[in-house]
Amino acid sequence: METVLITGANRGLGLCLVQKFADSGWQVFATERARSATPPVQASNVHWLTLDVRDAASVALAAQELEQRCSGLDVLLNNAAINPQSEYDALLGELDFAAIQLTFDVNALGPLRVIQSLLPLLLRGQRKLVLNISSEAGSLRHSWRDRSYGYCMSKAALNMQTTILDRALKPRGFNVLALHPGWMRTDMGGPNAHLDPMESAEGIYQVVESAGENTPRFLQHDGKEFPW
Ligand SMILES: NC(=O)c1ccc[n+]([C@@H]2O[C@H](COP(=O)([O-])OP(=O)(O)OC[C@H]3O[C@@H](n4cnc5c(N)ncnc54)[C@H](OP(=O)(O)O)[C@@H]3O)[C@@H](O)[C@H]2O)c1
Repeated sequence: METVLITGANRGLGLCLVQKFADSGWQVFATERARSATPPVQASNVHWLTLDVRDAASVALAAQELEQRCSGLDVLLNNAAINPQSEYDALLGELDFAAIQLTFDVNALGPLRVIQSLLPLLLRGQRKLVLNISSEAGSLRHSWRDRSYGYCMSKAALNMQTTILDRALKPRGFNVLALHPGWMRTDMGGPNAHLDPMESAEGIYQVVESAGENTPRFLQHDGKEFPW
C-alpha cells in the first residue's frame, strides 16, 4: 500500500486530500496542528498525527511516531498554510510585521522543517515525491496584487524552495513539484471562490499519479503548467 503524509489535514483542501487518497486505497498519515477530539475522517487506512509546522519539536515528534508506524513514506504533501486577515488587506504604511513573519514561518519555513525531518522516511519510500501546495499568489510572472506581502512573498519563497530541493534531492531519486490548487471554497478562499476543494483534490491526486521526473515544475490542480 502506498503512503502519503498530508499537513494541515483537518479542514479545507487538506481534508479533501485525505478523503481522496484514502478512497483510492493509500495509507494516509493526516496531520493536524492540534489533535481533534474526533478525527475528521475515520477509516482504517487513515492515521492522525499532531504536527505544527512552526514547531521543530512537534515536527520531529511526528517523524518519530511515523518511524514506528511505517517503513517508508512515498509522497509528502505540504499543504498547511495561513493567510491572516490583518496582513492580507494591509497597505504600505500599516503593515503588520508580526503577521507577515508568522505567515512566512508557516508557509515558507514550515514545509522545509517537515521535509528535513521526514527525509529518512522519504528516502525509504518508493515514489520520492514532494508536492508543495503553493499559490498563484507566489508567481512572479502572474502576480497582480498590490498588498498581501506576507502571503505572496511566502509562496514565492516556497516556489524557490521547490526548485532548490528538487536539485538537491534529484541525485537521490526525488522529484519536487509546486502546485497552485485553484481558488477554492474553503475558510481561506471564502464562499465566492470558483472551485469545490474536492475537485481540486481530485486533480491533485491525478498530478501525483502521473508525476514524472521532469521537475521542478509549477503546475495547476488540473496538471497544466503555471508560470513561476
Ligand atoms: N483556498 C484557496 O483559494 C487557495 C488558493 C491558492 C492556494 N491555496 C493553498 O492551498 C492550501 C490549503 O488551503 P485551504 O484553503 O484549505 O486553507 P484553510 O482552509 O485555511 O486550511 C488551512 C490548514 O492549514 C492548517 N495550518 C495552519 N497553520 C498550521 C500550522 N502552523 N501547522 C500545521 N497546520 C497548520 C490549518 O489547521 P488549523 O485548523 O489548526 O488552523 C488547516 O488545516 C494552502 O497551502 C493555501 O495556501 C489555497
